[in-house]
Amino acid sequence: MKLTTQDIISFKGLTNEDVEKIFSEADKFEKIAKGEKPSELLKGKILGTLFFEPSTRTKLSFKSAIQRLGGSTIGFSRPEVSSVAKGETLADTIRTVEKYCDAIVLRHPQMGSAKLAAEVSKIPILNAGDGAGHHPTQTLLDLYSIRKNFGSIRDLQIGLLGDLKYGRTVHSLAYAASRFENKLYVISPEGLEMPNEIVNDLKNKGREIIESYDLKEVLPKLDVLYVTRIQKERFSDASEYNKVKDSYKINLELLESAKSNMRVLHPLPRIDEIEPEVDSSKYAKYFDQVFNGVVVRMALLSLLM
Ligand code: NCD
Repeated sequence: MKLTTQDIISFKGLTNEDVEKIFSEADKFEKIAKGEKPSELLKGKILGTLFFEPSTRTKLSFKSAIQRLGGSTIGFSRPEVSSVAKGETLADTIRTVEKYCDAIVLRHPQMGSAKLAAEVSKIPILNAGDGAGHHPTQTLLDLYSIRKNFGSIRDLQIGLLGDLKYGRTVHSLAYAASRFENKLYVISPEGLEMPNEIVNDLKNKGREIIESYDLKEVLPKLDVLYVTRIQKERFSDASEYNKVKDSYKINLELLESAKSNMRVLHPLPRIDEIEPEVDSSKYAKYFDQVFNGVVVRMALLSLLM
């Protein structure tokens, strides 16, 4: 059983059959991911993890995934201690690291970096975030989390809230969620809208996408509210960040207008856009979502390696 692609660069590169395959594999890994059942499925396999930007969940869940399956990792998360600090190009780093391992997970600040890496690499490249571009493995775990909560990834009303301009998770998720006949609401502060290029691309494909600045108005319609933080590090001007940083906050009072089975997801890290009081409510599913990242990445690694 294989995927139709050797690299995971953007969600667009996956067919619906690929997505189904990944999810049905992921279902099988729950016990192994929890450490309740040992596995040697990827024994002897080495995953390269090249993180040129900070990461907690993406990096550690990939490491956990391969180690639970009997494999191991090499890599760096501080490029300043690698030869990149001497001026090595990304292409040369990839041509080197591919000689040491069986697949590479790459997070890099530059949009398009994962695509470039895949062009020079003979082994699978998994895009773990390319600047403000895409983050397809996050999207797979987001969709998988929706499937777990609703039994399906179709015919839902899904709201994407926050920094839709710079947030790569929402760029990938917009393509993914709208592909499965969901109605998409993109809700952002002014100036941080979903890029026109993406909105137009989706509209041209006949997908349902509604742009809004008004969360209160949209919230009662939603089955899923996918919250994201403002991507502070991608602002060139601190005063621009300060203007928008407190523009939305999810708390219990606000959630009173939501459907009782509405669910809040968040790729994390959260800064202060969801109040901690929400965490123990029936709405909050973002920490369960974290676990789903392990089984989905196990599925990806087992299918690609
Ligand atoms: C996201 C990212 O790096 O894009 N984090 C993650 O992988 N879970 C979201 C973010 O940083 O806001």
